[in-house]
Amino acid sequence: MTDLDREAIEQRIEELKPWRYNHEYNGIKIAGTPGAMQVHDLYGKAIMQHLVSKIVGDRDPKDFRAIDLGCLEGHYTDVLCEAGLGEVVGIDLSEGHVDRAKFLLQELKGHQNATVVLGNVADEELMESLGKFNIVIFHGLLYHLKDPLKMFDIIQRMIPDDGEFYLLLSTQFKGQYGAVILPQPIAELQIKKSTVSLGSEEGYQLHEEVGSVFERCSFRLNPQAVYQILKLYGYQGMIAYDTPGGYGYSYNVSMVATRNRQPDFLKRLRGGISIDGVNFYEWDGQSVDSYDFNKLIPRLSRFLMRVAYKLVDKVGKFDRKRDRRRRGVFSTD
Ligand SMILES: C[S@@+](CC[C@H](N)C(=O)[O-])C[C@H]1O[C@@H](n2cnc3c(N)ncnc32)[C@H](O)[C@@H]1O
Repeated sequence: MTDLDREAIEQRIEELKPWRYNHEYNGIKIAGTPGAMQVHDLYGKAIMQHLVSKIVGDRDPKDFRAIDLGCLEGHYTDVLCEAGLGEVVGIDLSEGHVDRAKFLLQELKGHQNATVVLGNVADEELMESLGKFNIVIFHGLLYHLKDPLKMFDIIQRMIPDDGEFYLLLSTQFKGQYGAVILPQPIAELQIKKSTVSLGSEEGYQLHEEVGSVFERCSFRLNPQAVYQILKLYGYQGMIAYDTPGGYGYSYNVSMVATRNRQPDFLKRLRGGISIDGVNFYEWDGQSVDSYDFNKLIPRLSRFLMRVAYKLVDKVGKFDRKRDRRRRGVFSTD
């Protein structure tokens, strides 16, 4: 590479800012946003490398096709491309992220196996046109979606008829604490505020600071809802892992979900992991990254919520009876 080439690349890196994470290739450095949570640099990349190596095992990585939903600047797509998978598709709704991903994966690193698509993961036609995949990375996106259930339908159609399938799901639970620990499946509606509208027709908003595009409102499933939905959609094996960041980064669960239980897969994932604080275990919906709902405080909180709901119910019923009596309405209570 000549000095001129290097200068042009560095200028392009500058033009494409803001980058979220650090990247390095052939002595060329891309600096991520200072102060941003450097999950990828700290451990995300290493965990993804571990997961892919354990999924592929001693088989030919070229036989695997993967998609990275909400790929941002292609940091995970990059890991899968480097692992030598046959094809890795990164898709994102943000033009800025897609431009960065194309530059990083195709221009800078020259990955022949990378495809980058600008689009909405909720666009059924578009997603169907992308074909079938053996690995779906679904990180940091579920809680941003207007219709999380539709996304599971879309993913269902990506599953190859006769091939292996792994759903790499990582999602945050940013709602109320009570909703996070609730043993019942629920979803909270989140209306986003601090973003710039991209027009009411599209219904999307741009988060200027990080360059991401989001739908203006989303349904945030609680852990029990995620667990029950995964079961409903035929996932039998859910192997979660605690991350070194743990629930410091809000409540979070990260896992590899498979359609059939593979007892040796847990053993394989546990082997050769060299990242402190990462441990794999079967997920039963009763914990989120390093936080066990069976501990004293969540149990006490669940008890208090049950009591509070019973009380509110009783007060409501009493009020309704009184109201009906006053109006002379016949009551069946
Ligand atoms: C919180 S970031 C997560 C990025 C990455 N997956 C990770 O875990 O590091 C969410 C990403 O999804 C993108 N996004 C949000 N809604 C989307 C949609 N409906 N379709 C495609 N991408 C979307 C955003 O632009 C952003 O890049």
